[in-house]
Amino acid sequence: MSVVPNSGNGKVTVPDLLLRKTPAAGSHSNFQKITCLTAYDYPTARLVDEAGVDVILVGDSLGMVVLGQESTLSVTIEEMLHHTRAVRRGVRRALVVADMPYGSYHSDLGQSLNNAVRFVKEAGAEAVKVEGGERRLELISRLTEAEIPVMGHVGLTPQSVNALGGYRVQGKTADAAEQLIRDAHAVEAAGAFAVVLEAVPRELAAHITRELRIPTIGIGAGPECDGQILVLHDAIGLTFTALPKFARRYANVGEMISRTVREYCDDVRAGMFPSDAESYHAARASKEEKEAPVNTDGDW
Ligand code: KIV
Repeated sequence: MSVVPNSGNGKVTVPDLLLRKTPAAGSHSNFQKITCLTAYDYPTARLVDEAGVDVILVGDSLGMVVLGQESTLSVTIEEMLHHTRAVRRGVRRALVVADMPYGSYHSDLGQSLNNAVRFVKEAGAEAVKVEGGERRLELISRLTEAEIPVMGHVGLTPQSVNALGGYRVQGKTADAAEQLIRDAHAVEAAGAFAVVLEAVPRELAAHITRELRIPTIGIGAGPECDGQILVLHDAIGLTFTALPKFARRYANVGEMISRTVREYCDDVRAGMFPSDAESYHAARASKEEKEAPVNTDGDW
């Protein structure tokens, strides 16, 4: 039997996730890995939540997979708030984490704190995610002091795409690996409850996972992390560019949508939609039908 600690009503909370940290190798345990997916709207959030995922991230990948932008850099705080609200309305069990977009936490600390508070107060987020390691120490401390749980994000941080010179695997040299280890420790020391490790060698992610007390959530970081996250649209086949090596496509929803639309267009063009059964009828002669409302055939 596996152990999935959570509060009585099944709602996933930050303390529950801290208890899901994989214990040190050798100790007797059968803890379940933490499952995370992105979602950006009500229907997908609801489906993802009802299917039992632990954490739903309203990622700023929104910009690329939903808004058709080239990178995540142009996503605004208003867009993130709008989508976080929609997700919040669809979720009952999972922990809802909102990604703070580029520019919303990069200048004044007070302003960054105000922006994070907006995600909690105006959109119902239960935690926020910020990218960066050592250089976010003070920010993460301030947010956690203000009772806002923080998920860190180190390794390939897409908001640094210009500084990094592209979307590349991080931590491959000894120096880069050491910096990444320092970054992960800084995020933990500042009070984050979990940290995303993106596009880092499996061995390095495993090492960081063993060293940290908080759960690591991997994306392109190998199977030893305490949990995994994927961009939902990558997993369901609703993206239009080549997938990164780490993204597994579980379904082809894009193809399903295309097929459905083609069938609908064919039916309309051939006069096959709507059918008589899908049409309303004028009231017939009987007394009951004359007195019935317009919808004489029953419910909508
Ligand atoms: O924005 C996002 O979807 C993310 C995940 C890939 C971790 O940051």
